[in-house]
Amino acid sequence: MTSKRIVLGITGGIAAYKSADLVRRLRERGAEVQVVMTAGAREFITPTTLQAVSHRPVRDSLWDAAAEAAMGHIELARWADLVLVAPATANFMAKLAHGAADDLLTTLCLATKAPVVLAPAMNWAMWEHPATQANKDLLEERGVRLLGPGEGALAESESGVGRMLEPIEIAEAVMSPRIDPALRGVEVVVTAGPTREPIDPVRFISNRSSGKMGYAVARALAEQGAKVTLISGPVALAPPAGVKVQYVESAADMYDAVIHRLEQMDMFVGTAAVADYSPASPAVTKIKKEKGSMELSLARTRDILATVASSGRPIFTVGFAAETNDLETHARNKLRSKKLDMVAANWVGEGRGFDADSNALQVFWPGGSTEIPQDDKLVVARRLVSLIAAHYRRRQEG
Ligand code: C5P
Repeated sequence: MTSKRIVLGITGGIAAYKSADLVRRLRERGAEVQVVMTAGAREFITPTTLQAVSHRPVRDSLWDAAAEAAMGHIELARWADLVLVAPATANFMAKLAHGAADDLLTTLCLATKAPVVLAPAMNWAMWEHPATQANKDLLEERGVRLLGPGEGALAESESGVGRMLEPIEIAEAVMSPRIDPALRGVEVVVTAGPTREPIDPVRFISNRSSGKMGYAVARALAEQGAKVTLISGPVALAPPAGVKVQYVESAADMYDAVIHRLEQMDMFVGTAAVADYSPASPAVTKIKKEKGSMELSLARTRDILATVASSGRPIFTVGFAAETNDLETHARNKLRSKKLDMVAANWVGEGRGFDADSNALQVFWPGGSTEIPQDDKLVVARRLVSLIAAHYRRRQEG
């Protein structure tokens, strides 16, 4: 395993005494751990202890000139493959939810493009408080993953929900591929690739879609235990592991294949670049060339995504929007006009998006948005899928 670089943030709660053990558990599993403490955390555990177990000097201030010279806070934010905050106090969650950057750890969380994972720990009443619950919802909506809290004995001789998960559980959760229970067994149909619209038996109209993003999304959904059917246009890709693939050619074929599955579907992710127009009456025999120019009459195809979204069944629908300009406006319009739960938008043209191995997405849902930075399409797909899972879970909990 290549070593995973983890910034471990420790905030000021009694569970901070367990953080030294957490560092050891993460390192045993091959992680490099850089500890960042808040002022509150230093009241519960010393930097000396954490330096000894992490084998790295602990960072605790934005204003430490020597530490900043060695690795500035923005560099540290980029260094991290993951930012894990354990324990995360109610105060820390509130600050993160509202974008505060008043110490090293909050600043790092704002500056990083890496996934952020929190292991909350607090008194049960603080956890139950509507303010904390609202902050939790907001953070999850933005793609922050929460581990716990668990239920059991708390400090102050009380018990309830608020315990930090055990270090071993946290280490296992962040270091091993996880299955999101929200997606286990969920029937998902994904469309991918281009379509081919026949002009005659040998010619067609198509587009530059490679299908790579859709195949990566199908694979990432299957990794999370979803039952995935991939309806694919013609592409040069191997079928993803654990995914049922049905190959189609035209937009009309893709429409029929998707609608055929409408009754079984819990979720639909339309990544395909479906043709918007198709030759109105394809020739039955090969068209012979003539001297002059020729005109081709095109008819609109049916919108698969919009049909699924307005089918009347509670299908969680995710659309894609490839844009060359005004990305946010077009994406938000699509979300509204097609009545979608989520739109993943990306820039295309000038070597971006289509056929590339990496991608960046701006994801929109009613009332919010987040950015998934440029990375390999599978990495981006996994992050999109965890966002989809969080929103799907919230909708199911209703
Ligand atoms: O409206 P526009 O074509 O830009 O929307 C793109 C989204 O709609 C993609 O998710 C695409 O898969 C889906 N779509 C569809 N059927 C069509 C056209 C687009 O499912 N006929």
